[in-house]
Amino acid sequence: MTNLRPESNGDQKMQLHEVVPWGRSLDEYRAMFALSERDMQGHLLGCGDGPASFNAELTELGKPRRLVSVDPLYLFTGPEIASRVEQTYETIISQVKRNPHRYVWSYFPDPDALGAARLEAMKIFLNDYDRGRKERRYQPAALPKLDFEDREFDLCLCSHLLFLYSAQLTFDFHITSMLEMLRVANEVRIFPLLDLDLRRSAHLDQVMVELRSADFQPEIVQVSYEFQKGGGQMLRVIRRS
Ligand SMILES: C[S@@+](CC[C@H](N)C(=O)[O-])C[C@H]1O[C@@H](n2cnc3c(N)ncnc32)[C@H](O)[C@@H]1O
Repeated sequence: MTNLRPESNGDQKMQLHEVVPWGRSLDEYRAMFALSERDMQGHLLGCGDGPASFNAELTELGKPRRLVSVDPLYLFTGPEIASRVEQTYETIISQVKRNPHRYVWSYFPDPDALGAARLEAMKIFLNDYDRGRKERRYQPAALPKLDFEDREFDLCLCSHLLFLYSAQLTFDFHITSMLEMLRVANEVRIFPLLDLDLRRSAHLDQVMVELRSADFQPEIVQVSYEFQKGGGQMLRVIRRS
């Protein structure tokens, strides 16, 4: 992710080695975004869903009326994504093992359980990937530009991309992406609000100021999911009028 630049993501130029393919489950999405039954029954968009099993699992449950995940990763085939997952796995888990104090070990008891859960989520994603691409549930696209009509979605979710990569992604990228998500959806939720060093994102306060001045209502909401220490909050944004 460190080489990731917005201008490299809007087209075929993105390189697979730039991506950290690390996917979460539906249960984690429900907790990170405090999703209600009603939320899950609408028209949903996930930005940067990568190899998360959120789309596959929710589709299997037959809940949403529409669910689309966008990610530049979806330019690649299932086997290419799977091989990238295998290459990355050891690096990420060994980093977590070296720094266990940075995380809250309640949802996952230890790094091995975390690793097993991530691999399971990615397996569910990969099993669904070809079918999901045909059904247009997985679409290759990159913030800050989304190819959807105004307010096509009820709710847009963005997990572990904005704010987390505050050192790599500029303030302009953050605010342009937020406004684009708010163009295509009535409501946007972002998790987490900490960066990779467990500090509150350097962009968060200014993003909230700009959103208020553009007539949106941003609100920080405490949620039941905390894995990065101190990271149990999401940003929820709705239109003021
Ligand atoms: C750490 S992963 C998180 C995956 C998933 N959201 C989750 O929480 O399990 C970050 C994802 O953001 C994607 N990504 C990177 N740049 C992006 C962009 N400009 N627009 C949308 N997604 C992007 C990556 O390809 C990767 O899949």
